[in-house]
Formats: sequence, structure tokens, C-alpha cells
Amino acid sequence: QLPILRLLSCPGTVAADPRREEQPSGSAETGSEDKTPKKRFSEVQKERREQAQRTVLIHCPNKISEKKFLKYLSQHGPINNHFFYESYGLYAVVEFCQKESVDSLQNGAHTPSMSTEAVIPFRSRYFNLKLKNPSNQTSQQSHIQCSNQLPPSSKKIFELLRCAESIDDQLNSLLKEFQLTEENTKLRYLTCSLVEDIAAAYFPDCTVRPFGSSVNTFGKLGCDLDMFLDLDEIGKLSAVKTAGNFLMEFQVKNIPSGRIATQKILSVIGECLDHFGPGCVGVQKILNARCPLVRFSHHASGFQCDLTTNNRIALKSSELLYIYGALDSRVRALVFTVRCWARAHSLTSSIPGAWITNFSLTMIVIFFLQRRSPPILPTLDSLKNLAGAEDKCIIEGNNCTFIRDLSRIKPSGNTETLELLLKEFFEYFGNFAFNKNSINIRQGKEQNKPDSSPLHIQNPFETSLNISKNVSQSQLQKFVDLARESAWILQQEGQDRPSPSSNQPWGLAALLLPSIANGMALARKKGKKPINETVKNLLESIKSNSAENSTNTHRK
Ligand code: CTP
Ligand code: MG
Repeated sequence: QLPILRLLSCPGTVAADPRREEQPSGSAETGSEDKTPKKRFSEVQKERREQAQRTVLIHCPNKISEKKFLKYLSQHGPINNHFFYESYGLYAVVEFCQKESVDSLQNGAHTPSMSTEAVIPFRSRYFNLKLKNPSNQTSQQSHIQCSNQLPPSSKKIFELLRCAESIDDQLNSLLKEFQLTEENTKLRYLTCSLVEDIAAAYFPDCTVRPFGSSVNTFGKLGCDLDMFLDLDEIGKLSAVKTAGNFLMEFQVKNIPSGRIATQKILSVIGECLDHFGPGCVGVQKILNARCPLVRFSHHASGFQCDLTTNNRIALKSSELLYIYGALDSRVRALVFTVRCWARAHSLTSSIPGAWITNFSLTMIVIFFLQRRSPPILPTLDSLKNLAGAEDKCIIEGNNCTFIRDLSRIKPSGNTETLELLLKEFFEYFGNFAFNKNSINIRQGKEQNKPDSSPLHIQNPFETSLNISKNVSQSQLQKFVDLARESAWILQQEGQDRPSPSSNQPWGLAALLLPSIANGMALARKKGKKPINETVKNLLESIKSNSAENSTNTHRK
């Protein structure tokens, strides 16, 4: 990355930089500082789900006239909005104003007949559009604007960071580039809705809801799509009171345990996705995991999907993170930065293993923000104390109650800059007593570790569980070492910022570079002693300094 950086220079038209005019993010669910009232999590989910049900996904020919395409589809009813994107070919997402338009479109669609292969005649909302007369259309094609679904390249990120005005500006730019776009969010809800149609073949009133980073406001472009097959609603729907002395029940199969029921349901839905689900490829049934799941790729959207069921608590923790993300605009900027930093240094991975997960990192940042003085985020216990009767929620004996109305949570009086918070974050965790303490966002303070796992982060709702049980001692050590090194780099940066015309990566950009290369670049810049010695000495001095500093910080 370094040589590429040197070739680039900042664009001259500084005033045209959109980052100067707006705060990160735009939509109502992302906790930006715009004046849009922030909606409740359940409202957002309901609204987006309903939108998705009126939406179709269409694989289009590469050469297409957008005008004609829209005119053709409008035969089925008015279109609310649409966008195109490129994945393996050109795709369109079209949201009709009315659900009936989807039925009309399906009624006019054909099942293709193949000469050599057979097809499964499954009628979904995922279509293939063909030109009746290809040669006729190409002359009138217009340029189709495609919405981007991919994370920005590291070249683009380093360029943006290098041209930013301050470290705060860098963190906000990173957030803006990586956060899920409106279109990507729509595509996520649509993919869930398409899977719901398949599951509905067995459970007509089921709901497939996205959870995790797709909806908790901490998702980065390219993150996986966690789905939850909700069968509980079915029970609620049928609870219509009837008169008379009798009570009617369905005849059902008895299964020895809830876990076995979950495995059986997921096994069948997994088969269905594999055999009938258009665009669902690489279906793996991982039924022996603590939380059984079906993993597959949704080819058309490019999402890696994890489908679970009986996982209501995870949905509740997504809602909690949504609230934390919406409470203060610094939260998401800091979480995104820490997630990007961890990814850049291979602290996180897309492969399951002994690595720290993004979910754990988010918890760590939330905990840190609860520890500031005054706190930037309230503890989960205080959110529970603010809850009203309508917020009460007990899932499988776990108390998951917290206030859900954002407007009733008092904003923090803390005015610390992102630059300071980032530096203190690295110092705090570079010196945290992981060997004896557990991170606990419910109480917002360290607790004694209940077991010997290297990293202990209490699950906020299932309090006997450790969400980072998988993390090995060596991965934790790597996190601590990198945090110390990053704290040191930021300390140096503060004293010695390169001029705007220089091509030198600075601030956050310096933190995202591979650490050794980084150290060497700094040593070269300063013409100092060889890197190993310099880093070692400085890290030692940070260790002793920040032991004092961190006690001060905690007392603040
Ligand atoms: N989850 C949990 N306990 C864990 C792991 C996950 O409760 N030990 C829940 C969390 O609600 C989490 C969700 O499952 O948000 C999805 O897990 P995962 O995909 O690993 O994390 P994300 O938050 O979605 O982050 P990423 O962007 O890495 O997918
Ligand atoms: Mg996820």
C-alpha cells in the first residue's frame, strides 16, 4: 500500500469535499447528527420488511434501456423506487408501491424450458429478464448508474484519510465510506424476504428477520447477513379467543428438546434452500454448533448468509446495539475505526477460529465509552431502570428488558474528541487487566473473571456466557500489543503531523498500516535509532506512563 500512496496527491478542490458539509450517514436508523427523529428498532424492522415484501430482484441483460425497463415493469403497477447494481451480471431491485404488483409480475412470468437440463418450477420474486429482440434494444441503451455494494478499496481509504483535516475527520470519513448504504440495507431485507418465501412453504406465517451487524448500525459493507427464522409469531397469530367450553389445539409432533426441534427445522429449510432456492449456493448445515445454523451464499446479492432459528436473544442484542449506536454520533465512528483497525492487522478474520470477533470489539468499545467521565454511554442496568412496563422482555428466563424509546435517554454531557477517545481506547486496553477482569456492559465496570478464559466479555443477556470464549491467549496478546503500539503512534503523531502536501500517511492511516512497516516508516522519518530498539523503549515508557494515566482516566 505504501508505494501506491506515494503516487497520490490530495485533490485540489477542497471545498467540493462532501465530508465538510455533512455528518456521517443519512438514514434515520444510523444515529447520525442529522435532525431526523431516530426511529425505534421495531419500527425500522417493520417498515423495511413491508418494503421488502413489495420488492423484486431482477437479473437483467447487460445492455438495457432503463427507461424501457421501467415502462415495462410499470404495466404491473406504480414503482416506488429502484436501483441497479453489478454482481455476477447486472441486477435491478424494484420496489413497487403495492404488493399486488408483485403478484401481477409473477403471473406474467414464465418458467424457462431447458433443452438439455430439467428445472424445478419454483416461483419466487427473483426473476431473469430477457430481451425479445436483442439487436433492436442495444442502439437505444442508456448508461445505467450502478449502486455500489462493495467496501471501498484500501487505496481509496488511504487517500481519503491522507486528505482529511483532522483525526476526527478521518474517523468520520472511514465511517461514511464503510457503513451500509440505503441500497445495501434494502438488498439485505429483500434477501431475508426471499428466504422467508421459501420457509413459508412449510410455515406459512413465519418471519425471516435480519439481525447482527446488518441492522445494529455497526455493519460494514461486505459484512455477512445474519438471519433469524422466527416461528414464534405463528403462535401469537392463532391466539384468537373463541367462545364456548372448548380449547382447540393443533396436533403436533413431540420432540425431545427445543434444540432438536431447531435442528430438524433448519435441516429441512437448508435442504429447501439447497434444492429450490434460486441463487442460494454452497448450502452448509452446521447443526451441531451451540447455535445451530444453515450457512449459504446468496449468489445474486453476494451476501454470505447465516440462518438461525430460536435465537430471539441475538435479535434483542442487535436492538441494544442499535440503541447504543444511535445515542451518540461518536459511538459508530469509534466502533468502525476499531473494527477496521482490527481487520487491517488480522486480529479479526472471516474464518471462524481463535480470533476476536467484531461483536466482541463492539462490546469492548461500548464498555470503554461507559467508563469515560462523564460517561458517553449509559450502562445496560441503567437502560433497564429507565424501562417502562411496555418494554418488559423475558426470553427463556433471561431478563432482556431495557428502554426502547431513544428520546427518553438523556444525551451525554461528555465532549471529548474522537482523536482523544481513540488514543485513550488504545491506552486503556493496552493496559487492561485481562488476566483478572471481565468486561461487563451491564454494570459498566470490570468484574472478576468467573473462569480462566483469556478474554472474558459477559454476554449482556445470558450473563453466564462469555461472548469471547473462543479467543486464545496469543490472539489476546496480539490485540494488547497492537493497542500499545497504536497508542504510541498516536502519541507521536500528535507532536509531529506531516504537512498537507506531504504524501506521508498520518493519524488513522498510520494505524492501519502493517505495524512493522509502520514502525520503519516512522523511524526513517525521524532518522532515529533502529526500529526494534525505539519501539521497545517507547512501549516500555508507555507502559509505565499509562499505568498512571489509566488510573487517572478511570477516576475521572
Ligand atoms: N452473537 C451473540 N453471541 C456471540 C456471537 C454472536 O449473541 N458469541 C449475536 C450478536 O447479536 C451478533 C450476532 O449474533 O451481533 C451475529 O454474530 P456475528 O455475525 O458474529 O457478528 P456481527 O455483529 O453481525 O458482526 P459481523 O459484521 O462481523 O458479522
Ligand atoms: Mg454478522
